[in-house]
Amino acid sequence: MLKAIVALAGVAVIAGSVGTGQLVSVGPKNQRLPLASNSEAAQVLMQACGNCHSDHTDWPWYGHVAPVSWWIAWHVREGRKQLDFSQWESYSARQKIDKLDSICGLISTARMPPWAYTAMHPEAKLTEENKNAVCGWAKEQSIVAR
Ligand code: HEC
Repeated sequence: MLKAIVALAGVAVIAGSVGTGQLVSVGPKNQRLPLASNSEAAQVLMQACGNCHSDHTDWPWYGHVAPVSWWIAWHVREGRKQLDFSQWESYSARQKIDKLDSICGLISTARMPPWAYTAMHPEAKLTEENKNAVCGWAKEQSIVAR
Protein backbone atom coordinates (compact mmCIF):
# COMPACT_ATOMS: atom_id res chain seq x y z
CA MET A 1 0.00 0.00 0.00
CA LEU A 2 2.71 2.42 1.04
CA LYS A 3 4.73 1.49 -2.02
CA ALA A 4 1.75 2.16 -4.21
CA ILE A 5 1.34 5.59 -2.66
CA VAL A 6 4.99 6.42 -3.11
CA ALA A 7 4.83 5.22 -6.70
CA LEU A 8 1.74 7.26 -7.35
CA ALA A 9 3.31 10.32 -5.81
CA GLY A 10 6.32 9.81 -8.05
CA VAL A 11 4.15 9.56 -11.12
CA ALA A 12 2.28 12.65 -10.07
CA VAL A 13 5.51 14.60 -9.66
CA ILE A 14 6.78 13.49 -13.03
CA ALA A 15 3.46 14.18 -14.70
CA GLY A 16 3.39 17.54 -12.99
CA SER A 17 6.81 18.53 -14.20
CA VAL A 18 6.10 17.36 -17.75
CA GLY A 19 3.15 19.53 -17.23
CA THR A 20 0.23 19.40 -19.64
CA GLY A 21 -3.00 20.20 -17.89
CA GLN A 22 -1.29 20.30 -14.55
CA LEU A 23 -3.41 19.42 -11.62
CA VAL A 24 -1.63 20.40 -8.46
CA SER A 25 0.76 22.03 -6.23
CA VAL A 26 1.40 25.70 -5.79
CA GLY A 27 2.75 25.09 -2.37
CA PRO A 28 2.41 22.41 0.23
CA LYS A 29 -1.04 23.68 1.08
CA ASN A 30 -2.95 22.63 -1.97
CA GLN A 31 -1.10 19.53 -2.99
CA ARG A 32 -4.26 17.64 -3.69
CA LEU A 33 -6.42 20.46 -4.83
CA PRO A 34 -7.82 19.99 -8.33
CA LEU A 35 -6.66 23.37 -9.53
CA ALA A 36 -4.24 24.63 -12.08
CA SER A 37 -1.26 25.90 -10.14
CA ASN A 38 -1.23 29.29 -11.76
CA SER A 39 -4.91 29.96 -11.27
CA GLU A 40 -6.10 32.83 -9.17
CA ALA A 41 -8.87 30.64 -7.82
CA ALA A 42 -6.31 28.24 -6.35
CA GLN A 43 -4.50 31.03 -4.57
CA VAL A 44 -7.67 32.52 -3.21
CA LEU A 45 -9.07 29.22 -1.97
CA MET A 46 -5.92 28.23 -0.18
CA GLN A 47 -5.39 31.63 1.31
CA ALA A 48 -8.94 32.31 2.39
CA CYS A 49 -10.35 28.83 3.00
CA GLY A 50 -7.46 26.42 3.45
CA ASN A 51 -7.07 26.88 7.17
CA CYS A 52 -10.52 25.51 7.80
CA HIS A 53 -11.15 23.39 4.74
CA SER A 54 -7.99 21.36 4.31
CA ASP A 55 -5.67 19.38 6.50
CA HIS A 56 -3.04 22.09 6.26
CA THR A 57 -4.15 24.31 9.07
CA ASP A 58 -1.70 27.00 10.06
CA TRP A 59 -2.39 27.60 13.69
CA PRO A 60 -1.81 31.21 14.60
CA TRP A 61 -0.30 32.04 17.98
CA TYR A 62 -3.69 32.78 19.51
CA GLY A 63 -4.78 29.35 18.34
CA HIS A 64 -2.99 27.96 21.34
CA VAL A 65 -4.81 30.15 23.80
CA ALA A 66 -8.06 28.79 25.22
CA PRO A 67 -10.91 29.48 24.67
CA VAL A 68 -9.90 30.83 21.27
CA SER A 69 -8.19 27.54 20.51
CA TRP A 70 -11.44 25.64 21.17
CA TRP A 71 -13.34 27.99 18.94
CA ILE A 72 -10.84 27.54 16.12
CA ALA A 73 -10.70 23.79 16.60
CA TRP A 74 -14.48 23.66 16.32
CA HIS A 75 -14.43 25.64 13.12
CA VAL A 76 -11.74 23.54 11.58
CA ARG A 77 -13.52 20.33 12.55
CA GLU A 78 -16.91 21.51 11.32
CA GLY A 79 -15.48 23.18 8.27
CA ARG A 80 -13.60 20.08 7.24
CA LYS A 81 -16.57 17.88 7.83
CA GLN A 82 -18.47 19.93 5.27
CA LEU A 83 -15.70 20.51 2.81
CA ASP A 84 -12.14 19.23 2.87
CA PHE A 85 -10.02 20.11 -0.11
CA SER A 86 -7.48 17.56 1.03
CA GLN A 87 -10.09 14.84 0.53
CA TRP A 88 -11.37 16.26 -2.71
CA GLU A 89 -10.35 13.32 -4.84
CA SER A 90 -12.32 10.93 -2.67
CA TYR A 91 -15.58 12.82 -3.17
CA SER A 92 -18.16 11.39 -5.53
CA ALA A 93 -19.13 13.45 -8.55
CA ARG A 94 -22.39 14.30 -6.78
CA GLN A 95 -20.55 15.59 -3.71
CA LYS A 96 -18.12 17.63 -5.78
CA ILE A 97 -20.97 19.21 -7.68
CA ASP A 98 -22.82 20.02 -4.45
CA LYS A 99 -19.78 21.73 -2.95
CA LEU A 100 -18.87 23.54 -6.12
CA ASP A 101 -22.40 24.80 -6.53
CA SER A 102 -22.56 26.19 -3.01
CA ILE A 103 -19.14 27.85 -2.97
CA CYS A 104 -20.01 30.80 -5.19
CA GLY A 105 -23.22 31.55 -3.32
CA LEU A 106 -21.51 31.45 0.06
CA ILE A 107 -18.69 33.78 -0.87
CA SER A 108 -20.97 36.15 -2.78
CA THR A 109 -23.18 36.56 0.27
CA ALA A 110 -20.14 36.87 2.57
CA ARG A 111 -21.03 33.75 4.56
CA MET A 112 -17.61 32.29 3.78
CA PRO A 113 -15.05 32.95 4.96
CA PRO A 114 -16.80 33.67 8.27
CA TRP A 115 -16.48 37.35 9.28
CA ALA A 116 -14.93 36.48 12.62
CA TYR A 117 -12.15 34.82 10.69
CA THR A 118 -11.50 37.65 8.25
CA ALA A 119 -11.40 40.03 11.21
CA MET A 120 -8.31 38.17 12.36
CA HIS A 121 -7.04 37.28 8.90
CA PRO A 122 -7.37 40.32 6.67
CA GLU A 123 -5.56 38.39 3.93
CA ALA A 124 -8.62 36.16 3.70
CA LYS A 125 -10.96 39.02 2.79
CA LEU A 126 -12.13 38.50 -0.75
CA THR A 127 -12.15 41.25 -3.33
CA GLU A 128 -14.71 41.28 -6.13
CA GLU A 129 -12.00 40.02 -8.41
CA ASN A 130 -11.21 37.12 -6.06
CA LYS A 131 -14.87 36.18 -5.94
CA ASN A 132 -15.20 36.27 -9.69
CA ALA A 133 -12.18 34.03 -10.07
CA VAL A 134 -13.52 31.49 -7.60
CA CYS A 135 -17.05 31.59 -9.02
CA GLY A 136 -15.72 31.10 -12.53
CA TRP A 137 -13.60 28.19 -11.41
CA ALA A 138 -16.42 26.56 -9.47
CA LYS A 139 -18.78 26.81 -12.41
CA GLU A 140 -16.23 25.31 -14.75
CA GLN A 141 -15.35 22.45 -12.37
CA SER A 142 -18.98 21.73 -11.73
CA ILE A 143 -19.56 21.21 -15.44
CA VAL A 144 -16.45 19.04 -15.73
CA ALA A 145 -17.62 16.88 -12.80
CA ARG A 146 -20.98 16.13 -14.35
C1 HEC B 1 -12.89 29.95 10.16
C2 HEC B 1 -12.98 28.75 9.39
C3 HEC B 1 -13.54 28.81 7.98
C4 HEC B 1 -13.04 29.48 6.90
C5 HEC B 1 -11.83 30.37 6.83
C6 HEC B 1 -13.89 29.12 5.78
N1 HEC B 1 -14.88 28.28 6.19
FE1 HEC B 1 -16.29 27.36 5.05
N2 HEC B 1 -17.12 26.48 6.67
C7 HEC B 1 -16.66 26.62 7.96
C8 HEC B 1 -17.57 25.95 8.88
C9 HEC B 1 -17.44 25.91 10.39
C10 HEC B 1 -18.58 25.36 8.07
C11 HEC B 1 -19.76 24.51 8.54
C12 HEC B 1 -20.78 25.30 9.26
C13 HEC B 1 -21.47 26.28 8.38
O1 HEC B 1 -21.99 25.88 7.33
O2 HEC B 1 -21.49 27.47 8.74
C14 HEC B 1 -18.27 25.72 6.69
C15 HEC B 1 -19.02 25.34 5.60
C16 HEC B 1 -18.67 25.63 4.28
C17 HEC B 1 -19.38 25.11 3.12
C18 HEC B 1 -20.63 24.30 3.16
C19 HEC B 1 -20.39 22.92 2.66
C20 HEC B 1 -21.70 22.18 2.51
O3 HEC B 1 -21.64 21.12 1.92
O4 HEC B 1 -22.75 22.65 2.98
C21 HEC B 1 -18.74 25.58 2.02
C22 HEC B 1 -19.06 25.29 0.54
C23 HEC B 1 -17.65 26.41 2.48
N3 HEC B 1 -17.63 26.41 3.86
C24 HEC B 1 -16.78 27.11 1.65
C25 HEC B 1 -15.79 27.97 2.09
C26 HEC B 1 -14.99 28.77 1.21
C27 HEC B 1 -15.09 28.78 -0.32
C28 HEC B 1 -14.14 29.49 2.01
C29 HEC B 1 -13.10 30.50 1.57
C30 HEC B 1 -13.55 31.57 0.72
C31 HEC B 1 -14.40 29.12 3.38
N4 HEC B 1 -15.43 28.21 3.39
C32 HEC B 1 -13.72 29.60 4.48
C33 HEC B 1 -15.51 27.28 8.36
C34 HEC B 1 -14.70 28.06 7.54
